[in-house]
Amino acid sequence: MATKWVIKDKKKAIYWPSEKMKKKANMSDASIYKKALNNPKKFWSEKALEALDWSKKWNKVYESKPPFFKWFLGGKLNASYNCIDRHVENGNGDKEAIIWIPEPTNEKPVVLTYKDLLEKVSRFANVLKSFGVKKGDRVGIYLPMVSEVQIALLACARIGAVHGVVFSAFSAESLNDRLNDANAKVLITANGYYRKGKLLDLKKKADQGAKGSPVKKVIVIKRGEVKTKMSKGRDYWFHELMEKADPECKPAEMNSESPLFILYTSGTTGKPKGVIHDTGGYLTYAYWTSKWIFDLHDDDVFWCTADVGWITGHTYACYGPLACGATQVIYEGAPNYPDWSRFWKIVEENQVSVFYTAPTAIRMFAKQGVEFVKKHNLNSLRVLGSVGEPIDKDAWMWYFNHIGNKRCPIVDTWWQTETGGIQISALPGIGPFIPTVAGRPFPGTNFVILDESRKEVKKNEGGYLIQKPPFAPGMLRGVWGNPKRYEKTYFSDYGNKLYFTSDGAKYFDKNNIRVTGRVDDTMKVAGHRLTTGELEDAIATYEHVSECAVVPEPDKIRGQVPVAFVVLKGVKESEKITEDIIKQVIEEIGPTAKPKQIIFVNELPKTRSGKIMRRILKKLVINEPIGNTMTLQNPESIADLKKKTNYKRK
Ligand code: WT7
Repeated sequence: MATKWVIKDKKKAIYWPSEKMKKKANMSDASIYKKALNNPKKFWSEKALEALDWSKKWNKVYESKPPFFKWFLGGKLNASYNCIDRHVENGNGDKEAIIWIPEPTNEKPVVLTYKDLLEKVSRFANVLKSFGVKKGDRVGIYLPMVSEVQIALLACARIGAVHGVVFSAFSAESLNDRLNDANAKVLITANGYYRKGKLLDLKKKADQGAKGSPVKKVIVIKRGEVKTKMSKGRDYWFHELMEKADPECKPAEMNSESPLFILYTSGTTGKPKGVIHDTGGYLTYAYWTSKWIFDLHDDDVFWCTADVGWITGHTYACYGPLACGATQVIYEGAPNYPDWSRFWKIVEENQVSVFYTAPTAIRMFAKQGVEFVKKHNLNSLRVLGSVGEPIDKDAWMWYFNHIGNKRCPIVDTWWQTETGGIQISALPGIGPFIPTVAGRPFPGTNFVILDESRKEVKKNEGGYLIQKPPFAPGMLRGVWGNPKRYEKTYFSDYGNKLYFTSDGAKYFDKNNIRVTGRVDDTMKVAGHRLTTGELEDAIATYEHVSECAVVPEPDKIRGQVPVAFVVLKGVKESEKITEDIIKQVIEEIGPTAKPKQIIFVNELPKTRSGKIMRRILKKLVINEPIGNTMTLQNPESIADLKKKTNYKRK
């Protein structure tokens, strides 16, 4: 009989850690919340020293010039040293750092020990140096989950270069935008990657993306036998460079506040914004959230299924677990290759003990049926995590019953690209674990839920999730090249001393928070953040589009999917135009953004001042009463819109 890590409250559908879990957990003392909140600066100061090796201690722990703030001022460290070297120096060089599982089942996993990682990261850091990359320079990374992914990130960190990862399924256009915005001179990519049994070409897209960008050198990882065109003087094979490179590279001493990376995320306007994360604060935060929320111990095998293209992949498939000296599983491919039991096969074969995935994946697995799960013994699992969007009760219960076999706590982790690490979640040794309730603000972070008039809401009343200072050390430090946008997006709705998350929330009880979802023009498609603005921009560039508006439609598996309302000019609607528009969106953003429906209408509903009333379109899509149309400039548009949205009821 496998260990029970969680027990059920007799009266309610609430779970608590078992005695075994409390004993095992890195943090089981609930007084930590109060202690940390009484003096967050002292708490983080102690925690930063405990977590990391600093080459020089800071002289000031926190400084705030609203809306900007800094942590560990004057402190010096190197992130790659903290993720690798110190573990080797402590005698853990032979410990497995990364177990990389290729998608094709006839290929063998690649195992990298901490010692291997040290050598490879050092070599690659020297390669980057030989291309003239210096402290503070930006390096573009356009990589799928190949076995070299962490090497690429950590090599940048080793020499103090700032990496900017672009999700490999994003289009060449998206890549080009980001390379330009960050002014990246070097790009790291791969020639191809496996997805659902097929070897796809990536280099072609990388070439298109690099064209017209500041990129001067492209380093290409060879993943498979795809025909690859290499441009002389610009493109170099990774393996050839690595062979010749010096295997030793001294880590650069960086300021705690030096940027570690930029990661682009969707903003309210079409142009995505480059969220900046620092070195010392981010790494301290990544370390403690990994240690306490995923409860990482020496014997754990952690698997975070996120792609490195997202913040989850940065913090929990690279920096956090590696800073903790943990062993991680990284999987290259699709969850359903060769069939829907692949994930569970990986869990069993590698004895994964902590597993972290997204609600959209859980719903997909649930739909396929439990027979795929039942084929495998999942007794190694101890903690389960969820991230990306609110997890509904059905998905939570399915995850709990069928993956955790009623033995494992589920940590429903709320956070954002901007927060750098998890900010609201239960801790496995403290609990409680409640379906649809994310949990408690992480020790040393401070949240309130306010209404529009800035008054704190009462239990079960809806409001807005707000973070209070001192802001957690993992928080973003700015928007690349655009401080005004930083202020406007996060620090204007509630003044420059409160961070507005753009999420709605409720107090479940005095400690625990239920996050209800975005309150801005953002949608979460299979956990990926997209804004109506960027989709609308992509559609509007199609020559025959006069105007358009995009709204989310609820979807059983993907959470939400985009639906576009389009007004054409000069042409009649046709299947060809629908296809062209969809193609355009895929080319400009990527397949994640593919609209489910293109609805051609005569007019969009507008206010007297000419603003599109997306609220009405949202209601039409979910077939709910649209409410008051008094303020519309063109109320006669409604009849046509109603007729066109009838597809829902067919
Ligand atoms: C938005 C941030 C966090 C890394 C991956 C997504 C939503 C995320 C939860 C959760 C409810 C959640 C929020 C947030 N979200 N996790 N556990 N419960 N909502 O990062 O793309 O920056 O998106 O995802 O709406 O604001 P992101």
